[in-house]
Amino acid sequence: MRGRFVTFEGGEGAGKSTQIARAAEWLRARGVEVVLTREPGGTPRAERLRTILLERGAEPMPQSCELLLMFAARATHLENLVRPAIARGAWVLCDRFTDATYAYQGGGRGLPSEQIDALAGIVHADLWPDLTLLIDLPVDAGLARASSRNGAHGPDRFESEQQAFFERVRATYLERAQAEPARFRVIDGSRSIDAVTGAIEAALAPLLEASR
Ligand code: TMP
Repeated sequence: MRGRFVTFEGGEGAGKSTQIARAAEWLRARGVEVVLTREPGGTPRAERLRTILLERGAEPMPQSCELLLMFAARATHLENLVRPAIARGAWVLCDRFTDATYAYQGGGRGLPSEQIDALAGIVHADLWPDLTLLIDLPVDAGLARASSRNGAHGPDRFESEQQAFFERVRATYLERAQAEPARFRVIDGSRSIDAVTGAIEAALAPLLEASR
């Protein structure tokens, strides 16, 4: 089995967590070793950086600090978890990756995409996903779902952003999908959970065939 790198992207409340777990189950049932992970995070050090990135503290977070910490977390995650797993023939399913940096730090915050290009070049010039599943949903619908689930802990630093921020995030994701149609599949996230799962399995099936 050839190792593969598949990423799941989308705005808040798109249903990524449910769908990535179902995709892992589907692949495991077909004999694939699956490593389920997320960004920022996925290894102990990267998870500590995730806490720093998401917490709402008194000290303002400069945009450059946010951008660099995202890539710092990514560097340790790729080196210590993702690359070794792919090398041994596993499939890595990752909840968000560098497309999220273009969408959130680029589209959302307004950082120039050249800065992101440069950091991606340092951290993973040789490694891009084989397949990126973008679960797309209108911003209103996603935010309504997300706020109903984060009642207990309150919104994190990203979830506290305004609607216009998430509209820019969504637009940037869709632009990237259009620019790289061979890597991206845009999945309509407004359908039922089972319909979304079906669309994702249909996207995974040919890659699985090609990996045997
Ligand atoms: P989530 O995994 O629960 O969606 O939370 C992660 C948050 O981090 C989410 O709001 C998007 C944000 N994020 C970025 O801003 N840039 C990135 O590169 C990544 C991976 C995530």
